[in-house]
Amino acid sequence: MSKNARINGFSKMTKDQKIDWLISTYFAGSEDSKKVLTSFWLENANDQKSIDNFSENVLSNYILPFSVAPNFLIDGEVFTVPMVIEESSVVAAASSAAKFWMSRGGIRTEIIQTKKVGHVNFTWNGTLQMLEGKKSEIFTYLQENTQCLTENMVKRGGGILDLKFVDLTDQVTNAFQLVGQFETCDSMGANFINTILEQFAKDLIQLINIDAIYGVEYSELEIVMSILSNYTPECLVRASVSCSIAELGDPINGQDADKLARKFKTAVDIARADVYRATTHNKGIFNGIDAVVLATGNDFRAIEACGHAYAARDGQYRSLSFCSLDDDKFTFTLEIPLAVGTIGGLTSLHPLAKCALQILGNPSSSQLMSIIAATGLAQNFAAVKSLVTTGIQKGHMRMHLQNIIQQIGVDENKIELVKAYFENKTISFSAVRTYVDSII
Ligand code: MEV
Repeated sequence: MSKNARINGFSKMTKDQKIDWLISTYFAGSEDSKKVLTSFWLENANDQKSIDNFSENVLSNYILPFSVAPNFLIDGEVFTVPMVIEESSVVAAASSAAKFWMSRGGIRTEIIQTKKVGHVNFTWNGTLQMLEGKKSEIFTYLQENTQCLTENMVKRGGGILDLKFVDLTDQVTNAFQLVGQFETCDSMGANFINTILEQFAKDLIQLINIDAIYGVEYSELEIVMSILSNYTPECLVRASVSCSIAELGDPINGQDADKLARKFKTAVDIARADVYRATTHNKGIFNGIDAVVLATGNDFRAIEACGHAYAARDGQYRSLSFCSLDDDKFTFTLEIPLAVGTIGGLTSLHPLAKCALQILGNPSSSQLMSIIAATGLAQNFAAVKSLVTTGIQKGHMRMHLQNIIQQIGVDENKIELVKAYFENKTISFSAVRTYVDSII
């Protein structure tokens, strides 16, 4: 670590000054290192400026592959799904699962609910019964005072759906919550919800502390924080695929459809029973989910946090997907909360997010929930199918070989030779290097 790494006023420096400081502090003034940072700037200065404005202290752009997975038949419509992800086998796996299900009726989805939630957390020396006793007076006041903030959302079909008080005093001294439930239509709604919650907080102070509706003895309510919750179990979508067991077909490694269906279900059941497997299984689902969430300019941290909390909703972390075999029918389902938006935020500011949404036909947020869930399901299907048949390394290693070939800089006209040589051999960097050296 550099001894001169402390700096004051960094955020006030120009972008060039920041880069120069960084290069002299961490790269011994190397011009080549400076070029690494500046070479990823966009040519169009206005576009670059808009990216710079997304965050603080932006020095460059961090490139990730923007791919598409075609042939997703979702609720009778074919989508080409944009995916931003660096893991080499993910898009290929999603595409192959999408194609597999396209000829078996496609993926069906169901939006269960689209409610979002937020809390004003406060401490108070009163009781829940007292709050309940005046709740209609309080809620009417809160609704009236936020009308100017909600009217546009109400015109779009959304707004405040419900308000209630929750008592946390058995766990946290004097702690209560005002819980708001919201419909935010096509926007993710974070700003809308947080703005309303902060207004609610001011209004509670007005009623309880200033107007003293419970008397002066109870006029010292303290607001702790007002914030939406990223746990949105009531913003839920279900995606599923089904076919006759015989149609699972494609005997891989000599496996018949019955055996594939049975092993597949057992693998999913294991992920429901065991947290170690559940974590990896769900990671596979998020390979697909995060990639679409990121491509469409949505908040993948929120989606992940919520998905994992939902996976643990009965007290044990479990698989988000489940499989059933009824008579001769194979059904595979993913149920996941997805609070996403298709207007506002990065969705309209990031040129590639806009492009991704256009590729999807500018969906509503509910349609986007369906597309994202379908991609997660397809990804999960592909991973589990590989695991119970060929093993995961076969597909992974094919993509890994491509990366090694690129890293080594194999001659264009030798690439097919290298690929053919490693078709049935164990792939490692050194094995590829040795082989490439031997054919020069
Ligand atoms: C790798 O990124 C994802 C998998 O491990 C998922 C799984 O095991 O189900 C293949």
